[in-house]
Amino acid sequence: TVNGLEFAVKDLSLAEFGRKEIELAEHEMPGLMAIRREYADSKPLAGARVAGSLHMTIQTAVLIETLVDLGAEVRWVSCNIFSTQDHAAAAVVVGRDGTVDAPAGTPVFAWKGETLEEYWWCTDQLFQFADGQPPNMIVDDGGDATLLVHKGAEFEAAGAVPQPTDDDNEEYQLILKTIADSVARDPKRFTKVAAEIRGVTEETTNGVKRLYKLALDGELLFPAINVNDSVTKSKFDNKYGIRHSLADGINRATDVMLGGKLAVICGYGDVGKGAAESLRGQGARVVVTEIDPICALQAAMEGLEVVELDDVLHKGDLFITTTGNFGIISAAQMSKMKHNAIVGNVGHFDNEIDMAGLAKIEGIKKLEIKPQVHTWTFPDGHAIIVLSEGRLLNLGNATGHPSFVMSNSFTNQAIAQIELYTKPGEYEKDVYRLPKHLDEKVARLHLDALGVRLTKLTKEQAEYIGVDVEGPFKPDHYRY
Ligand code: NAI
Repeated sequence: TVNGLEFAVKDLSLAEFGRKEIELAEHEMPGLMAIRREYADSKPLAGARVAGSLHMTIQTAVLIETLVDLGAEVRWVSCNIFSTQDHAAAAVVVGRDGTVDAPAGTPVFAWKGETLEEYWWCTDQLFQFADGQPPNMIVDDGGDATLLVHKGAEFEAAGAVPQPTDDDNEEYQLILKTIADSVARDPKRFTKVAAEIRGVTEETTNGVKRLYKLALDGELLFPAINVNDSVTKSKFDNKYGIRHSLADGINRATDVMLGGKLAVICGYGDVGKGAAESLRGQGARVVVTEIDPICALQAAMEGLEVVELDDVLHKGDLFITTTGNFGIISAAQMSKMKHNAIVGNVGHFDNEIDMAGLAKIEGIKKLEIKPQVHTWTFPDGHAIIVLSEGRLLNLGNATGHPSFVMSNSFTNQAIAQIELYTKPGEYEKDVYRLPKHLDEKVARLHLDALGVRLTKLTKEQAEYIGVDVEGPFKPDHYRY
């Protein structure tokens, strides 16, 4: 605690650099800046205590300061151990009016290269604001903050936190330990938090999957807005964001020439489509694996060969997972790859590539080339290069998606926060999407910056196609 502000970041003296980059990013985030102007006077989030768990980057700093400008009190952590940009975290803590000696911004608990134990400690810091109050809103990315509240409340209701067993993976053991420590201090902590939360707005595919499952099982403790499935989120961030940040991550990590290389993309959903375009744009020969016939057919129609992973193990130069599923590349498969093949993941969780299995291969040697770049040498002497230890490489090895595309995602986030906070009682304990007119609004806010001149429907044309002159222009089932 400095100057009455709690935080845990790497180095506050990085704040000046962070501030300069935040100011550049603001210019590239017209949607968020328009939201700041629109709500400057009405402050719809006054009284909101927002707990945010989302990659602590420069772009996220602009989101955080937007939420503050809308009236919210905010606490923030990263949703990945490697994704924090330390200068962004420092600048948010110092704030727009503070100094390194007297920080006056927002409490952040995040640094690049947390251990998993530190990660769950940070996440736990979200649930007690400085005045002892619990949060009443969550911004989540991947669902870890929501998971902690749900598990905590479940164990409190049961009267005991289960002891970790050897069958639990390391991360689940740490979750149990974090909850046990918290509950030891306050036996009803998470129950109280859950009762206060008006809603969660979830950023990504994997987090949304968790929410739908909780809702289906009747276990969701508060309303949720699925931000990911706004068209202006998943059809932009997941696709065009990855198109930018995948090649960026590989380049910064390895500087390997991508042209001419054989790149294997596992999964051809929104992220996979962006990944394929990213590497194809660099002249790589891209092949794809899929389980869904529709996505496989889409890949084929784009001129991409659709293969089974085992068919290309011995000849692929790069292997990138994008599925949001687990067990996509096994240790045995990695052992069959070419010398110095590059293996990386851009799906949300680190279980797409079997890193635990790789570490268990007898005689295998891991060598750090630099942080988040390792070679793993098999007993026969050949090696593979693994990026970000199997975690999101676009954030671990580079700086994630660029500001402009994140402005689309985060404008959805800000609107969703306002929606759930200002309309308690209008939403059930279920998962909702933002209505299409708001999705169209987010897009509209980004047109001027690109010089887009939109054609206006005449009244007669609008009647002919059965829409309002001002939109929405498409039915909900339209797929873009
Ligand atoms: P999606 O559902 O559109 O695509 C995933 C695709 O993987 C689907 O087409 C599915 O059929 C396929 N798939 C599933 N199991 C497979 C298997 N065993 N082999 C081959 N293909 C398989 O999901 P989306 O939106 O593309 O997200 C993918 C992941 O990326 C999620 O974990 C999401 O949270 C994450 N994400 C990461 C971002 C980043 O910055 N790195 C940005 C946005 C999302």
